[in-house]
Amino acid sequence: MKQGVILINAYTNGESELNQPKRLKEEFEARGVRIEVNRNFFTAGVRENEEAGFMSADFCGNLDKDKYAGELLEKAGLRLFNSPRAVAVCDDKMTTCIALAGSGIPVPETYAAPLCYSESAPANAEFLRAVGERLGYPLVVKESYGSLGKGVYKADDFESLCEVEKKLQMKPHLFQKFVSSSAGRDLRVIVIGGVVFAAMRRTSAGDFRSNLELGGRGEPLSPDARAAALCESVARRLGLDYCGVDLLFAEDGYTVCEVNSNAFFGGMERITGKNVAGAYAEYIIREVYGV
Ligand SMILES: Nc1ncnc2c1ncn2[C@@H]1O[C@H](COP(=O)(O)OP(=O)(O)O)[C@@H](O)[C@H]1O
Ligand SMILES: [Mg+2]
Repeated sequence: MKQGVILINAYTNGESELNQPKRLKEEFEARGVRIEVNRNFFTAGVRENEEAGFMSADFCGNLDKDKYAGELLEKAGLRLFNSPRAVAVCDDKMTTCIALAGSGIPVPETYAAPLCYSESAPANAEFLRAVGERLGYPLVVKESYGSLGKGVYKADDFESLCEVEKKLQMKPHLFQKFVSSSAGRDLRVIVIGGVVFAAMRRTSAGDFRSNLELGGRGEPLSPDARAAALCESVARRLGLDYCGVDLLFAEDGYTVCEVNSNAFFGGMERITGKNVAGAYAEYIIREVYGV
C-alpha cells in the first residue's frame, strides 16, 4: 500500500490553511496513495532508541514551517516535500535574500535590521537615517517572518520609518528599496519539480501590496520566458520541490520579491483553473515511487 503523511501545524485552523492538506490529500488518494494528515506535535520530542511515529509512511508532504518537526522527521529517515531546510530559508525573507545573493538572481536592494535583544533599547536614529539615505523614500519595511502582506509596510519619510521601527524593533525585519514601477502589481508563479506550472498577475487598486488576501485581484497568466527561467532558477537555487515565487516589475526587468515554500493552492487554482495540488501530488509520486 502506498502511503504518505501530510504534516500541518498544530495551530492551523483557517479555511485557506486547512484547504492545503485537504486538496493535497484528495489528489493523492485519487492516485491510489493513502494519506494521513498529522499535526506537528507528534514529532516534537526526542527519545532515545525510539523511532518517530511516521516511519511507516513513504514520504511526508510538509505543509508546516516548523523546523523542529521537519528536522525530526527527516532525521527519522522520511523524505519531506519541501525539505525543512528549504522551508526555513524561505520562511525568513532575509535569509531568502541572502541565499539568492550573488547567484545572478535579481532581488531589490535589501538590508537586515540589526537584531535587537532589549525591549528598552532606544531606536538607533543614526542607523535609520542611513537606511533612508541608501534606499530613498518611500522605502519598504518587512517583517522577516510575515505573510499574506500583513507584515509589509511602506515608510514615506523618516518619521514614518521611525514609527514602523518602533513597532518592529523586537522582531526580525528588513529594509528594502521600493520598486515603484511595480506598486500594486506583481506576478505569482508556481514552480513544481523545477518547472513553472501556473502563474497569475495580481493587481491591487488601493494598496502597494498586491496580495489576494488584502483585496488584490488575480488574472491567469502564461509567464514569458524570462520570468519562467528566473522562477525556475530560484526554485533550483533554494532546493524547493514546490514554491510560489513573487516577482516585481523593476524598470529593467523582473526582480524577486519573495519565495513562498508553502504557497496556497486555493487562489491559484480558482483563478487559473489549474490543478496545482494534483500536479504537486503527481510530482511527489514520481519522485517517491518512480511512476
Ligand atoms: N520592494 C517592494 N517594492 C514594491 N512592492 C513591494 C515590495 N515588496 C513587496 N511589495 C508588495 O507587497 C506584497 C507583499 O510583499 P511580500 O514580500 O510578498 O510579503 P508577503 O509574504 O506578506 O506576501 C508583494 O506581493 C508586492 O505587491
Ligand atoms: Mg508575497
